[in-house]
Amino acid sequence: MPLTYGKYLKVPELLSLQQGLSDPPHHDEPLFIIIHQVYELWFKLALHEVDSAFAHLDGDRVGEATRLLRRVVEVQHLLISQVRILETMRPQDFLGFRYHLNPASGFQSVQFRELEFLLGLKDPAVCGRLVCDPEEARRLQARLAAPSLADAVDALLVRRGFPRDAGSRPGGASQPEPWRLQALVRIYEEPEAHADLVALCEVLIEVDECLALWRAHHVQMVERMIGAKRGTGGSDGVGYLRSTLPKRAFPDLWRVRTHLGQEPEADR
Ligand code: HEM
Repeated sequence: MPLTYGKYLKVPELLSLQQGLSDPPHHDEPLFIIIHQVYELWFKLALHEVDSAFAHLDGDRVGEATRLLRRVVEVQHLLISQVRILETMRPQDFLGFRYHLNPASGFQSVQFRELEFLLGLKDPAVCGRLVCDPEEARRLQARLAAPSLADAVDALLVRRGFPRDAGSRPGGASQPEPWRLQALVRIYEEPEAHADLVALCEVLIEVDECLALWRAHHVQMVERMIGAKRGTGGSDGVGYLRSTLPKRAFPDLWRVRTHLGQEPEADR
């Protein structure tokens, strides 16, 4: 039999993976399962693209890295807008099957953590708090140990002739650094001389912005759904999620805006 659409994409297998726990089946549980599964599929693609973007930056192919990161941004826009679909669920509908989820939570999404670590948002404490299977734990540890996209950007800046401070923190690619801020001021103030780097920086800040927008929309949706209840993962819920809102993978890309048109030292 020739290859078919269903065989190539394993559609029967895919459609057999939505198995709810509510009994009798709750009308909204399929929505809840499908939306999370779809997120995981897009996380898988985002990891694939950011891994490739990392390799391109490492090989000084800045244009290719930028092109793939634009794809990631488009995926992120989809991830943000998908929250709206969940918001068609009423709080009492969610309560109809929520207790079955305990103690599972989006907090345990290993791919979400991989993505954070790969971008540069590394928090070793997360590995300790995250309950997952050994293969997932191994993947996460590998991400923690490997250089991040933020590290690759730093290395690229150095290769492009922006000297790194001798005192800069090793492995601190997601921490603000004076040398990096100064490099970025020059890049933004001389856009013709650094056109490819400006394009890269703009897509990187968009990746960071989209992650922040997703966090903001997720926490707003969570408050709408469960108010001040604790999370199924054991956190205090909305309070914990709000504490994650300031996270930025590329903090100096945000700081550079303040310093454009003035000396970087002026109000640091
Ligand atoms: C009714 C829908 C949802 C509710 C009520 C909800 C609630 C929560 C809560 C309370 C937390 C904090 C951890 C905890 O104690 O459980 C959390 C974390 C998280 N959720 Fe959701 N969530 C929902 C949907 C989603 C969806 C669709 C995704 C997509 C993958 C998702 C991904 C995450 C992630 C990645 C975290 C960890 C965030 C961080 O630690 O920075 N959630 N969620």
